Amino acid sequence: FVFSDINYDAHEQVVFASEPRSGLKAIIAIHNTHLGPAMGGCRMWEYVNERAALVDALRLSRGMTYKNAVAGLPIGGGKTVILGNPKTDKTPALFEALGEALERLGGRYVTAEDVGTSPADMAHVARRTSFVAGLGDSGDPSPFTALGCFVGAQAAVRHHLKRDSLEGLIVALQGLGHVGFDYARRLRQAGARLVVADIDQGALERARSELSAEVVPVDSIYDVEADIYAPCALGATLNEDTLGRLRAKIVAGAANNQLATPDIGDKLRQRGILYAPDFVINAGGIIKVCYEYFQKPDSEIEGHVCRIADTLTEVFQRADREQLPTSVVADRVAESRFKA
Ligand code: NAI
Repeated sequence: FVFSDINYDAHEQVVFASEPRSGLKAIIAIHNTHLGPAMGGCRMWEYVNERAALVDALRLSRGMTYKNAVAGLPIGGGKTVILGNPKTDKTPALFEALGEALERLGGRYVTAEDVGTSPADMAHVARRTSFVAGLGDSGDPSPFTALGCFVGAQAAVRHHLKRDSLEGLIVALQGLGHVGFDYARRLRQAGARLVVADIDQGALERARSELSAEVVPVDSIYDVEADIYAPCALGATLNEDTLGRLRAKIVAGAANNQLATPDIGDKLRQRGILYAPDFVINAGGIIKVCYEYFQKPDSEIEGHVCRIADTLTEVFQRADREQLPTSVVADRVAESRFKA
């Protein structure tokens, strides 16, 4: 199948799940299950049309296969999108109907919360199926995502700046949300100086008072003379517009889909900016959710998340050896695992 300019050639199964009484209209995309059941969140969004929803489901489920494989998890990649407005269209019946659809898939795909859905919604899903993770009883995965970003930033600094410490480095951090604030706190504790931007004034105030952060306007974050740019808000912030403005030597942040287009990976390399591929550095959350789902010991989660640093180091070294963008190398590492 070819949609627009992207070749989605490898999806195992795509299911259109509808249930008229509850109004459920969802697309469940299972990209790959070679390493285990497909896992990935359930997004609820008011898409402009059904094609946009399908493209999103295909793109996101493929991304989960890569993320899960690189993170060394025994799971494949999948994603659900529910077509609807998360503010007005949610009902318990809708999520129960989704649970029934998942049950019919017999465990080939396990869902979790994502943009537009919450642990409470997942609790309704869980009334009809056990193939759901992240029910909220043991907490938010964001601190683990932040930990992964922090050890990832340390690995990038060791590799690119030949330094063992973050002391005195300047980090331009965009987005002080669930992940960003925790990441910022760790960076600060390690001696980094923070320059931050957010649209939320409360978050900025906290960063100022608790982390001694300097605040800049939202659009100025790209121009900050920094060692590290840490995107923790939106996707696609590495694009033709921002590329020429970036002063940082390293990009290490949590946001998904940071490269607006794949060629930006090579452009960053040409500019001598080390890019920590998003799906490698931000896997801490899925690692936590996966451990919880398979009831593996909590005590092992942190160790697994910290191995993100080793994976990144391997990616950086191979990218140097093969003169390739880190984004391309990370894809190849993932492919070698899930295609094997
Ligand atoms: P969040 O919604 O808690 O935080 C996002 C923050 O970005 C908010 O403080 C928001 O005000 C701010 N923001 C929005 N627009 C902005 C702009 N134009 N400029 C600066 N700041 C802006 O989200 P969360 O959970 O912290 O996730 C952050 C990113 O990391 C997202 O891209 C998410 O997809 C990704 N991610 C999150 C994971 C998690 O465990 N929460 C796991 C993997 C990826």
